[in-house]
Order: sequence, then structure tokens, then C-alpha cells
Amino acid sequence: MSTTVTNKPTLSTHISTSPSTTKMDVTAPINPSDLFSAKGLLVVITGGGSGLGLAIASALFQNGASKIYLLGRRQNVLEDAIKKLEASPSAPKSSIPVLGAITCDVANQESVSAAVERIKSETGYVDVLINNAGVIGPLNGPDMYKTESIEQLRDSMLKGWYGWAQTFAINTQSVVGVSAAFLPLLEAADVRRGWQAGRVRGGPGDPRVTGKGTPREQDKSALKRLGYDEDDDRLAHIITVASVASFMRYSIAGLAYNATKAAAAQLGKILSSILAEWGVRSNVICPGPYPSEMTAGIEGRYGTDQVPQGRMGNLNDISSLALFLVGKGGAYINGTMQITDGGRIGVFPATY
Ligand SMILES: NC(=O)c1ccc[n+]([C@@H]2O[C@H](COP(=O)([O-])OP(=O)(O)OC[C@H]3O[C@@H](n4cnc5c(N)ncnc54)[C@H](OP(=O)(O)O)[C@@H]3O)[C@@H](O)[C@H]2O)c1
Repeated sequence: MSTTVTNKPTLSTHISTSPSTTKMDVTAPINPSDLFSAKGLLVVITGGGSGLGLAIASALFQNGASKIYLLGRRQNVLEDAIKKLEASPSAPKSSIPVLGAITCDVANQESVSAAVERIKSETGYVDVLINNAGVIGPLNGPDMYKTESIEQLRDSMLKGWYGWAQTFAINTQSVVGVSAAFLPLLEAADVRRGWQAGRVRGGPGDPRVTGKGTPREQDKSALKRLGYDEDDDRLAHIITVASVASFMRYSIAGLAYNATKAAAAQLGKILSSILAEWGVRSNVICPGPYPSEMTAGIEGRYGTDQVPQGRMGNLNDISSLALFLVGKGGAYINGTMQITDGGRIGVFPATY
């Protein structure tokens, strides 16, 4: 076996790909509670105090996560969210607190670094980082389509112009800033699970020939020590919450929201490519309308020409997607965009 690694490899006990991994034993047990579980995961969720972030936190909390840090700017919102989940009849029985609040502004890199340092000192690794924080930005949206003169259209398009920079900082730039800041802790999660550290180059070899490259190696005995299944080969994971607005050509919230979310989705895909040799996965969730602070006031009943499913997304919809992505059953999902919108982008002009 030849392995090219540039950073602190300890391969003495690493197990290479065994012949059994090239066959599927279709008679092996298939257990949804193993495949779609957050058991033992250390998770960070930005914007975790409300809406979709809190719904994802609840799904992972109820399904075995060992620690979930909720990050946001309002400490009281984070603390209330934790109290609510802990007091719920669905809360797991645990004497060790699972949920933690960290005040953090994702648009401020010093604030992000402080959160990283705190998590580093408390736990030392992060299995899953969820870039969920977001704002709606300047609202020029549907009103643009009601204008009667070119001057009105001009003014409508320029509405909230000076709010674009902050919207970009929170919705887009933070995807890079937060992901980059957490990389050492994501790598530490890989090492904890027995993966070799550092950059693993896929060659040498002819890239057109499949099945002969240099994979990252995993010491399976580490999994056993941690109490994880032997077939658990999940790599550390970044999940970015973009939007169906990333693809819509009809601007409902505002042009800044569309632009920042299109860019966030693209960055989530780029991260998967940048991090391919570094043992970190990246996927993107693109929700349609869900109840949250951001969508407060929306009635939530949609015609078939708006959301074919006829309703907003609900807790089942987002929880099952989150558990799929973070669970063992999602280990092979990397570089994807997962749309959860009841069919919305199929009935609007859209680019997806
Ligand atoms: N709900 C939908 O229909 C929908 C659809 C598509 C995509 N999304 C996306 O889903 C994500 C969650 O939004 P939501 O709908 O759940 O709305 P939400 O309830 O308003 O949640 C947004 C969260 O982000 C946090 N946040 C905002 N700016 C932040 C900053 N600078 N630093 C740290 N945290 C920040 C907010 O907390 P603080 O204000 O306390 O910081 C809040 O908890 C967003 O990225 C949104 O664009 C939502």
C-alpha cells in the first residue's frame, strides 16, 4: 500500500480498504435508527436559537447528539431555546447538559474565533458545523413587479441599497469565515474517529482509472474505543443552509437575499471541492418556506402554483433531512444541495 500524506500520519494500526468493501451484503441488518441518528455527534449550529436552526437542534438533541452548541447574537434567545428543548417531553434523559449557548456574531471574525476557542477548550473537536445563521436583508421583493413606471422600478430595485453589505456579510461571507475558523476542530473530530490527519493527495495514478487511488485511512479501533459502529466511516461535515431563493428568478424577499443565498449555495459546493483532500465533507440545504422569525406573519397556505405541497415545511420535513445528512446513512453524501421546498422551485422560473 502506498500512501502520500503531508501531515502527521500515524498509519501503524490503520486498516486499508478490505475486499469486503467492494461487495454489498444485502442480507446485513438495515436499521433506520442506526442510519438516521445523531448519536455521539458534537454539533455547532449558527443561528440555532430560532426557526430552522432550532428545529435542527431539536432533531439532533432528541436523537443522541452528545453536545450541541447554539450560536447567535442574542443570548436570551439562545437560553430560552435551550430551556424549551430541555423541558420538552421529547427531551432525552441525560444528567450531562447537551445544549450550550454561545453569543456570537457570524459577521465578526473575532467573535467567531472566540466561539472556536471556547469549544476547543471545552471539547476539542466538532463533528458537524451547520452554517444556518441568516437575515432577510433589504425587502424590495414582490413590490418590484407592481411598479407602473421605469422610475418606480428603479427606485424599487434600489430600496435598501446600503443594507446589501451586511446581508452579504451574514448570509455569504460568514459561510467562508465560520467554516474556515472551525477547520482545525473538524479535523480533530476526524482524528478522534481514527482518520489520518492532514492532506491526503488522491494520486499517483491515471485519474481516468477508477478504484486505484490513495484513500484517507481510518483506524477502526478508534471507533470501537468510542463505542461507534465499526462501519461508521463518517468524515467531519459542514452543512450550509442556503435557500430556494438561491435558484429563484422571481424575487420574493429581495434581490440581496437572492444574491447572498445563491452565493452561499455555491460556496457550500466549492467547500466540498476545496476540502476533498482534507477529510471534511460539505453539503447544502435549500429550504422553501418554513415557519421562523424570518417568515413570521406568513399565513402558510400555498396554492399549487406556489408550493405544490400546499403548505410550509414542518418539523418532520427538516428533521428527517438533517438526520439523514448527519447520520451514518449520509456518509456518502458530499458536495450536494438538498432541496426541501414542497416543489416550489418547480413552479417558478428558477435555475436549479
Ligand atoms: N424560514 C424559511 O422559510 C427559510 C427558507 C429558506 C432559507 N432559510 C434560511 O434558514 C436560515 C435560518 O433562518 P430562519 O428562517 O430559521 O429564520 P430566523 O428564525 O430568523 O433564524 C435566523 C437565525 O440567525 C441568527 N443570526 C442572524 N444574524 C446573525 C449573526 N450575524 N450572527 C449570528 N447569528 C445570526 C438569528 O439570531 P440572532 O438575531 O440572535 O443573531 C436567528 O436565530 C437562514 O439562513 C435563512 O436564510 C429560511
